[in-house]
Amino acid sequence: MSKLSELAAQRFGMALDVAEVAEDAPGAEVLAALLSHRTHRRFLDTPVAEDTLNLLYACALSAPAKSDLQQVAIIRVRDAAKRQAIADLMPDMAWIGTCPVFLLFCGDSRRIRRLCELRGHTFANNHLDAFLNAAADTALVMQNFITAAQAAGLGCCPISVVRNHINAIAEITALPEHVFPVAGMCLGHPSHAGFVSTRLPPEMIVHDDQYDDSQLPTQIDAYDQRRNGIYTIPPEKYRMTAEHGSPDFYGWSEDKTRQVSVREREDLAEYLRRHGFSLD
Ligand SMILES: Cc1cc2nc3c(=O)[nH]c(=O)nc-3n(C[C@H](O)[C@H](O)[C@H](O)COP(=O)(O)O)c2cc1C
Repeated sequence: MSKLSELAAQRFGMALDVAEVAEDAPGAEVLAALLSHRTHRRFLDTPVAEDTLNLLYACALSAPAKSDLQQVAIIRVRDAAKRQAIADLMPDMAWIGTCPVFLLFCGDSRRIRRLCELRGHTFANNHLDAFLNAAADTALVMQNFITAAQAAGLGCCPISVVRNHINAIAEITALPEHVFPVAGMCLGHPSHAGFVSTRLPPEMIVHDDQYDDSQLPTQIDAYDQRRNGIYTIPPEKYRMTAEHGSPDFYGWSEDKTRQVSVREREDLAEYLRRHGFSLD
């Protein structure tokens, strides 16, 4: 088994028929890094060098962008009071306050609209796609940032929970019209190795010719069991036990369906409309 097959097996908790690539083959290091991805939430106090951060920005902004419009803004929250105000909004995520660098990745549909004004053209696409394009661009930039950070020996944790406090976050960081937060990003030198989280198998995600989820019930049971064999969620982490109890087997699908059974971020559409987006 090659190193990449081992990493792929580790990622999915099962052997996969992936191409055998020699460890020293060109690009093998990149493939291995992708397979080894992990989120980091605990950091050393060691600061991130400014030129390293600049390198990460450069790598992040090398991501592809829809129509080359480049609809992203990154706010680095440096001011201690602002940083504390953001951390205080999400007290159960201590890493927001403790990471050496905290960034806010935003979709930015403002720049192109300002450019339209400057160049005397109409921005004729203020519909849902304008939002989606900026969100997609931002997600790609974030992924490049994470990959670059990990290659530089750093660790990241994206923070979508900023959207639970979208108005407060927008006020703290003075987000103007047509700019919206996609996610925060904690960055620093990891203090722990972290762990590889077991993914749903490709057979549940990749469809041949047409969408087919007819095997979902059996596939998800197998995934829950496989994942549980690698990491068992401890009872103290079960969600909403008062409402739903503590079953003998508490797998990923029980955990995630409990998570999404609680409504949140209801004010996102209202935020976007108030910031000038038409979502029609
Ligand atoms: C868009 C996005 C938002 C996320 N938001 C949060 C968050 O608010 N808090 C957090 O602790 N982790 C957050 N995460 C990290 C995920 O929980 C993590 O990626 C997932 O559990 C899979 O683990 P892995 O990245 O280590 O493979 C986020 C990840 C993404 C991609």
